Amino acid sequence: MKREIRITPSILNADFSQLDEEIKRIASASDLLHLDVMDNVFVPNFTFDFARSAEIIAACPIGVDAHLMVADADLIAPAYAEAGCASVTIHVEATNNISATAKAIRRAGARCGLGIKPGTSVEDYADYVDSIDMFLIMTVEPGFGGQKFMYDMMEKVRKTRIIIGDRPIWLQVDGGVSLQTISAAAEAGADTFVAGSAVFNADDPAGMIESLRALAHSVAQ
Ligand code: DX5
Ligand code: ZN
Repeated sequence: MKREIRITPSILNADFSQLDEEIKRIASASDLLHLDVMDNVFVPNFTFDFARSAEIIAACPIGVDAHLMVADADLIAPAYAEAGCASVTIHVEATNNISATAKAIRRAGARCGLGIKPGTSVEDYADYVDSIDMFLIMTVEPGFGGQKFMYDMMEKVRKTRIIIGDRPIWLQVDGGVSLQTISAAAEAGADTFVAGSAVFNADDPAGMIESLRALAHSVAQ
């Protein structure tokens, strides 16, 4: 049985001046909308504060996968779940209590993701595998769209796939995913793919999402 594939496009490279229209262009082809929340502390960039995020979440026609690149993840992650996110990802590098925050996110009705920056090993977090719903393996340094895919993260994806075993936990990759790079990630074991610039730089964003899904599905185990 082939692994189910999900495409969760990031709006980081969308036109923020007409975000509702941009989201409508891709919603029907997307599994979830990836919302990159940056506070200019955990990463050297700022995108949305909670108030603006809550507006986007409320108006979004599909589920939202919030990727919190914020320094105080324990503090605000539950609020993103309560605001209606389908999934909330905290970074292991930005939390003091993974178990407690994961519980709070799930209690508020959302799936919980654990984000791992390129320089962080995933083995150190294997013990949390039964407390979360997704691992997010960054394939760029978090903070900006349009960066180069880090192929040297594929070893970490393979390790993560082994840690997950036959649990129903998603394995998301995020950063530099495109028609040229998605096969390597799918072959390594990823099943959930964030794509920002590859989608919004395409003439037909929804069509690009379908092409990414088909390509990932063709190589997935
Ligand atoms: C980076 C973000 C990613 C990424 C997606 O910090 O988490 O979501 O920017 O954009 P692309 O696909 O352009 O790398
Ligand atoms: Zn992201």
